Amino acid sequence: MLKTDQLTPHPDLAAIVQQHQRHPWKKPCPAHTRAAFDRLLERCGCDARPLILDSFCGTGMSTAILAERFPNALVIGLDQSSHRLGKHRASDRDNYLLLQAEAEPFWYCLAEAGLTLIAHWILYPNPWPKASQLKRRVHGHGAFPVLAQLGGEMELRTNWRVFAEEFAEAAALIGLSGAMERFSTDDPMTLFERKYHKRGHDLWRFRGAFFN
Ligand SMILES: C[S@@+](CC[C@H](N)C(=O)[O-])C[C@H]1O[C@@H](n2cnc3c(N)ncnc32)[C@H](O)[C@@H]1O
Repeated sequence: MLKTDQLTPHPDLAAIVQQHQRHPWKKPCPAHTRAAFDRLLERCGCDARPLILDSFCGTGMSTAILAERFPNALVIGLDQSSHRLGKHRASDRDNYLLLQAEAEPFWYCLAEAGLTLIAHWILYPNPWPKASQLKRRVHGHGAFPVLAQLGGEMELRTNWRVFAEEFAEAAALIGLSGAMERFSTDDPMTLFERKYHKRGHDLWRFRGAFFN
């Protein structure tokens, strides 16, 4: 089970998200992330399908599953680790693309290019379980508010209840309406989900959408 010194949502969460809304995150886009984004632009030039993003996709197992489930979309799996992406088991779907990129600057590239999503999946992002690590969690990160510009539906999954509660609280602040719930599955979408399922962990998800 997850070791944490934080048993309830972080008391500073709302203030931090609001600060990030007032002061947008600024960091130069790493060259490899820009190159990955250029690959997407090139693909969009000849593939007009709406976009689904699978951020922090690990080996891309979920990316291939989403591509199968949504044949009319182009599904983009993003992960910073070439090692993880290198373990991808290729499927025969032609409607997905795995890109080695940092998710947060990639989201900015999408927003700056005016590209939007029909759905965004964030499955088992690193929990950063110490209270002092709040700003490293996806919803405590300076880039979190830019997700509102990308739009679409959102599904976040985690094995840490507090993380899901925090995500739901932060989501509401950026106009992402939805709810969290406990769920179970016999058909895991990712390797982490499979591992947590085997170990009998409770699983939590937030599902919602931006209504712009
Ligand atoms: C806990 S793993 C989950 C992977 C996969 N979603 C799963 O459920 O099996 C978190 C993943 O996030 C990736 N990651 C962490 N920070 C990232 C970032 N800023 N941008 C892109 N990927 C990142 C890691 O390389 C790792 O593959």
